[in-house]
Amino acid sequence: MMLVTHRGPYRFSLLEDSTFGASRGSGGIVSALLPLVRGNGYHEGDERQAWVAAAIDDGDRAAVAAGAVHVPGLDLHLLDLDPALHRMHYDVVSNAVLWFLHHGLFDLPRRPRFDDAFRAAWDGYVAVNAAFAGVIAEAAGPSEPVLVHDYHLALVPGMVREKRPDLRVAHFTHTPFCGPNSIRVLPTDIALDLCASMSTVPCGFHTSRWARAYEASAAEMRGPGASATPSFAAPLGPDPEALAELSASDATARAAAELEELVGDRKLLLRSDRIDLSKNIVRGFLAYDHLLAEHPEWRGRVVFVAMLNRSRESLVDYLAYEREVEQAAAQVNAERGTSDWQPIVVDTRDDYEQTIAGFARYDVLLVNPVKDGLNLVAKEGPLVNTRDGVLVLSPEAGAYDELREAVLPIHPYDIEQGAAALHTALSMPADERATCAGRLRDLVGLHTPQTWLQELLEHAR
Ligand code: F6P
Repeated sequence: MMLVTHRGPYRFSLLEDSTFGASRGSGGIVSALLPLVRGNGYHEGDERQAWVAAAIDDGDRAAVAAGAVHVPGLDLHLLDLDPALHRMHYDVVSNAVLWFLHHGLFDLPRRPRFDDAFRAAWDGYVAVNAAFAGVIAEAAGPSEPVLVHDYHLALVPGMVREKRPDLRVAHFTHTPFCGPNSIRVLPTDIALDLCASMSTVPCGFHTSRWARAYEASAAEMRGPGASATPSFAAPLGPDPEALAELSASDATARAAAELEELVGDRKLLLRSDRIDLSKNIVRGFLAYDHLLAEHPEWRGRVVFVAMLNRSRESLVDYLAYEREVEQAAAQVNAERGTSDWQPIVVDTRDDYEQTIAGFARYDVLLVNPVKDGLNLVAKEGPLVNTRDGVLVLSPEAGAYDELREAVLPIHPYDIEQGAAALHTALSMPADERATCAGRLRDLVGLHTPQTWLQELLEHAR
């Protein structure tokens, strides 16, 4: 089996003794796939495991140059891309255009603007996808299953099909897919190239809603009669054993004690997100502010802890959004806070054990994205939680389709409805909370990284 992702499973860095150390890579895909790599809990079968990814930073690039990209049991290939080319592929096309497109984040009267600079960046995207396809074609064994991930690598399926028709390929998108009206925002030739490439292999999504949006987009661009390999839905779930192990660690116990000191006998309203425009963090604060205005009985009795990780800081939109998030929290604190109560605590430490401690302790978990492929927090939180906490979840998160019967919906744009949902969640009687939390754990437990990978392998053609 060969896994293909933009970010690799390990980050390399030069150590003092001039050797290279490998540490766990970041991001949702890596968290999902790493437990499936031999040596990390995956023992079934004897098949070879290979992983192709880009060298992300100077440490990775130095390890490639020194021939030091070695991980026991894994045939790891890191592509040493020209940094300028890589920026065009990652920052300009993948993040500033495809991410915005699939999450509906464009301010259409103003942007995007597809000019010469964008066309040069698109050439970079094509070149990076071709580099990935070249390595796959060279390194894959006969008829080997190849699982290509995400919008960074949407041209890879078509390129690999041409070079190596023997390979069994599937493409899996972890984001939503935009749909037939929005796909037309892209320049027509580019929308066609993306859909034509993906149509050569089975394409998977976390929910049938995104699979349908993809199929409708492809039909819109290529015509209803164009041949396409059917798409499929295969939701990912968290790894219960890995979460249990982390929950029991000393680092999590230390983080839990620190959190306990902060929250005390108040209720904990928690969110845990990358600072990304799709996560809808500001409206979450506004809904909480509205709750405090409409239901003054909650003042001083709740703490909203927002565990937020900085992300994609090379993009101005992300830097500006981070400022907006800070200002929105500061405003609520200034208007509603008292000498012994800070309504919102923003924590940007990016510490996984601290997040796990938050998951265990929350009374209400807020997940209100404007759009999200799945949202793993909505599944990890309920598995770890020990207090029959309530999940308030946006129907625009892919996970909603699986969890809807055991969550409270929150409309991502409706501040009044959001405040009402938070009030209902905070006020829910203990027996109702216990029923929802139990059902939620059962629903989350239906899918694990292992079952998900198995589904992908079964679909690969
Ligand atoms: O949801 C798609 C995804 O690529 C996830 O795997 C990851 O958590 C997130 O987007 C952030 O990606 P990156 O930091 O690599 O841009």
